[in-house]
Amino acid sequence: MVVTIDGPAGAGKSSAARELARRLGFRFLDTGSMYRAVTLAAVERGIDLADSDALVEVAEQVEISLDEDRVLLDGRDVTRAIRTLEITSATKFAADCPRVRARLVDQQRRVAEGMDVVTEGRDQATVVFPDAECKIFLTASEEVRAERRYLDLVGRGEHVTREEVLDKQRVRDNGDCTRAVGKLYKADDAIEFTTDGLTREEVVDHLMKIVEKRRAGE
Ligand code: DC
Repeated sequence: MVVTIDGPAGAGKSSAARELARRLGFRFLDTGSMYRAVTLAAVERGIDLADSDALVEVAEQVEISLDEDRVLLDGRDVTRAIRTLEITSATKFAADCPRVRARLVDQQRRVAEGMDVVTEGRDQATVVFPDAECKIFLTASEEVRAERRYLDLVGRGEHVTREEVLDKQRVRDNGDCTRAVGKLYKADDAIEFTTDGLTREEVVDHLMKIVEKRRAGE
């Protein structure tokens, strides 16, 4: 079974999807971390991110592997390094590049082959797994999403203001919803769910109910 969870940044997708996968005993696929890892590799190599040929070359050269909680780039643990503000902003170049997307989409499909997975991103229901048995579109208000991200960044020791986080989030939302390939939108057959005011546990409980209904063929 494939469960897709798409939605904007800060809707609480990652932590809820990870916990959902754990409860279901499914593999978890955090696809945003793959775009981030390509970006980190390009930044470390001093590549001009606007040069799409160079970016594609990096995407073709690197090996990204996702185990349960860690992201490995050519065998090196980059779980934290891919989540800085700098990499978060720079990731739009990889996400906007159709050839990078094609490569990562292939990899996402390969990882899921023959497995039960919970996969999380922007285009999982629309592009990567259009035949997924259970599609969820997770949202939250702009303010709630920015506050979550702010607390997350401060918790990681980044020096940011709420305004800065909200501004950057608007830029990212706009980019995510307007890119030529793989843009964020709700699939017709996805169930939309808003996480405002809910704890992660409450969100996961609700997601479990959605998945169980689908499993029962409802
Ligand atoms: O979910 P995230 O914040 O880790 O995603 C990082 C960036 O990658 C974000 O700008 C959107 C993009 N992304 C994408 O274009 N397609 C995906 N399937 C996942 C993420």
